[in-house]
This record gives sequence, structure tokens and C-alpha cells, in this order.
Amino acid sequence: MNAVAAVLIGLCIAVWSTESAAQGIEPGTTWVNDRGSELHIDSIDKDGHLAGTYINRAAGFQCQGTPYPVIGWVEGDEIGFSVRWKSADQDCQSITSWTGYYEAGRIVTDWDLVYLDSVENGPLMYRGSDHFVPQ
Ligand code: BTN
Repeated sequence: MNAVAAVLIGLCIAVWSTESAAQGIEPGTTWVNDRGSELHIDSIDKDGHLAGTYINRAAGFQCQGTPYPVIGWVEGDEIGFSVRWKSADQDCQSITSWTGYYEAGRIVTDWDLVYLDSVENGPLMYRGSDHFVPQ
């Protein structure tokens, strides 16, 4: 084998091992978004029910630094999950739902947050996007 062939084979093995190590939407995985928040997936059952925890670390939001239960669904590369921002210590009177998909090693989502607005004295919606990568 000449040197060029050896380098090519080495490159192929490197690409293959990188791809085979890519983390998909699986139980036991943790994902971090652009805001520093963490989604941990504990389980996905045979029907696609997802259970896990979410730690919010996004600037400008409440209910920071505590793991909140996550429930959701996984359908192939599609995912939807929700958090009710209420714990024994803090009640932010809000709920967020994310929907999105897994592509090229990351989870791309849009979310809706419904919260109780003190000025309006009623519920309002806030919308945005989060991109998650493996921790
Ligand atoms: C609240 O402030 O009412 C509760 C916390 C909301 C955090 C939001 S959910 C969407 C966005 N992505 C995050 O990781 N955190 C914020």
C-alpha cells in the first residue's frame, strides 16, 4: 500500500467513526441550547413517549437552574416536548412547548411560552427558537 492510499483509508475511518459516534434523539442523552439550557432525555418508550428534565439557564427568564420534568413525543427524527415551570420552590405560572426535528447532529426547534402577564393580568404568548447540540 502506498502512502496516498494509507492516508485515504485513514480519512475514511476518521469520517466513519465521527459519524457513527453522532448522538441522536435517544434515552440517556443531554442536549444544550444556545442559551445554555439543558434538556436531558431519561426515557423514550416503544410508543414514542419521552420523559426527562429541563434546566433553564436562559437570560431574561425566570425559573432558572432547577430541573423541571419534561414530557413529550418522539416520532423518528421529529420531537415535541413541554415543561410546566412549577416546582416545590418556585411557580413561574408558565408553560413552554417546543417542536422540531433532529438534523445533522442537532435538534432544531421553535417554541411557544404561555405566561401570566402582570400588566394585562392574563395569559400572553411569547415565541422563539432554540437549537440544541449534544452536551
Ligand atoms: C418563565 O420565565 O416563565 C419560565 C422559564 C422559561 C424559559 C424559556 S423556555 C424557552 C426559552 N428556551 C430556554 O431554554 N429558556 C427559555
